[in-house]
Amino acid sequence: MLFTVLFPSRRTGALLVSAFALLSSPLAAQAIRTGTVAERYAQLCASCHGAELQGGQAPSMLDDVWVSGGDDESLARSIRNGFPEKGMPAWSAALPEKEIRAMVIFMLEKRAQARREQTQFVKPAESIAVQSELHAYKLDTWVGDLVEPWGLAFLPGNRALVTEKKGNLYLVENGRRAATPIKGVPEVDIDGQAGLFDVVPHPDHARNGWIYFAYSDPQKDADGKPVSLTRIIRGKLRDGALVDQETIFQGPLQYYRPDGGVHFGGRIAFDKKGYLYFTIGERGDGRNAQDLARPTGKVHRVFDDGRIPEDNPFAKRTGVDRTIWSYGHRNPQGLAFDPVSGNLFDAEHGPRGGDELNLVQPGRNYGWPIITYGMNYDGTAMVDITAKDGMEQPVTYWVPSLAVCGINFYTGDLFPKWKNQLFLASLAAEELRRIEIKDGKVLKQETLFKNLGRIRYVIGGPDGALYVLLPTRIARISPAG
Ligand code: HEC
Repeated sequence: MLFTVLFPSRRTGALLVSAFALLSSPLAAQAIRTGTVAERYAQLCASCHGAELQGGQAPSMLDDVWVSGGDDESLARSIRNGFPEKGMPAWSAALPEKEIRAMVIFMLEKRAQARREQTQFVKPAESIAVQSELHAYKLDTWVGDLVEPWGLAFLPGNRALVTEKKGNLYLVENGRRAATPIKGVPEVDIDGQAGLFDVVPHPDHARNGWIYFAYSDPQKDADGKPVSLTRIIRGKLRDGALVDQETIFQGPLQYYRPDGGVHFGGRIAFDKKGYLYFTIGERGDGRNAQDLARPTGKVHRVFDDGRIPEDNPFAKRTGVDRTIWSYGHRNPQGLAFDPVSGNLFDAEHGPRGGDELNLVQPGRNYGWPIITYGMNYDGTAMVDITAKDGMEQPVTYWVPSLAVCGINFYTGDLFPKWKNQLFLASLAAEELRRIEIKDGKVLKQETLFKNLGRIRYVIGGPDGALYVLLPTRIARISPAG
């Protein structure tokens, strides 16, 4: 609209000609198929919409003002059909659907980046009051001197356990970390994204002492090559050591993957009935997530001692992993039960664009890698569909990706207005988010702070404070003033 006012139709005609001339050149056609989305944008769109999407002869795509709709589907439609009468060609012939999807992701990324540059995010300094939307809080270092803490569990008697990715388990007593790690922790593969992951006490820990762990278990395959897979064990603490260890879940050796690498999952959660749920990522091969024989790319459910419940969705099938609760997951590193509804949520890393929050239900397929809201990290297109019959839609998704990690619902009393809301840690975006969910829908998201480094986990403590795992420390968030 603005465009037609600003530029006479003669100019529009000229632009149209140049865009079509570009398309008809064989070199350009080839580039469209092989290039990254940024290259395609530069070739096909920048002349009108500006090199940085800031606008020029055609509208800006950064200002959140959309003539024809700013949601994913509207943007795709605008690109597909163009506005020939206003000077924008239809791109459906030149760009396959998945390239159009990649272009939408690219535009959403650029728009989010522009928005971020205009937003002042809170980066709390030690013990300084911060006013957030619902509560004033302050952030203090609770336990320092850690390296990539991954999981945190509170135990009775002012004690807590914290895992470090590199394989250490530490006892924290009255806010003091023990000088040496707990002995007897199994050997852990720590290459790549592998490591010692979650630590969670049994719901009846005070009586039985059980503590559960997820970690990347190193083994040797038939050729003697090092392989690993996420394994779940439990044990008890005695005299500074982890004793009485039992395996709760170990996948068949044939499904172990070369050690190190990506996408281990590794989060554990108990429901109110005492069933144990845990996640295993697809280890970098999306096909694993759709293969019910494999434990990879799944959420699992077992009894607290590892037995398989008869009412698991695939318990009666043969040739499948009968612990599977849901499948089609990429890399779920967040897993938590809503204390009010009892619903299970997982947060999982998508590819570039397309991190997801899912409402996890038994037997359901969450779609990876057949449907996704993301594209490849190198900016090439991935798939053209974001939805399909028989596959679940996420509760919400993030384009660009935040690199979502641990999640938990807050159930404490120190922040009454946060009660029963979801808190989400993120790695790449370095954000702690507060999320209000109602009837399976996200009503509201607030970034509580940003830029204190990669965050792996957030959990409420027995004192009602919120504990956040930053790259080298555990921070405690408590009310200010
Ligand atoms: C020849 C100039 C030209 C080129 C090349 C061009 N556009 Fe456009 N585009 C326009 C004009 C003009 C409009 C405004 C249409 C209107 O006013 O409704 C527009 C509108 C749009 C809109 C809708 C904006 C809104 O406010 O709803 C999107 C999305 C879009 N273009 C994306 C692209 C993408 C992606 C490319 C590259 C594949 C591209 N355009 C290439 C001229 C162009």
